[in-house]
Amino acid sequence: MPVIRFVREGRDVECYPGENLREVALREGIELYGLKGMLGNCGGCGQCITCFVDVVGESSPGSLSGRTAVEEQKLRRRPQSWRLACQSLVQESLLVLTKPQAGLGDAEAKIAAAKANPLPPGPTAWPAAEQATDGEAAEGTDATAAAAETATSDEEA
Ligand code: FES
Repeated sequence: MPVIRFVREGRDVECYPGENLREVALREGIELYGLKGMLGNCGGCGQCITCFVDVVGESSPGSLSGRTAVEEQKLRRRPQSWRLACQSLVQESLLVLTKPQAGLGDAEAKIAAAKANPLPPGPTAWPAAEQATDGEAAEGTDATAAAAETATSDEEA
């Protein structure tokens, strides 16, 4: 599974590929928002521009889904590495700096230290669904056989 390394918080969080970055952060208790966003945010609709993150490292290019049209418009005056967490789907492992607009003491050293520990690549697809148990498979087979038997009876009648 992909790992999101939150540099400011010093935490690694696993998620499924395709999960929304904002939702993963909120689920894990990672604070994405500065004061303005805490007082009021759009709930993930891409309108308030308060869920900025800076992608400071990736296990491989394309660790997040591509920029949406909303991001292209709202982030046009921001660095290319900034993303709106609510518009970003995690594909592979990456390093994220939350609240990049807020200061982080010794940021360069903290980012370098986070990059020094390699990230796992993470899969690019959801895990396969579990196989049915023997009991369930047998029931399905019985139901299929019963349906075929009924169809045959109807044809004979
Ligand atoms: S939560 Fe409002 S833009 Fe992301």
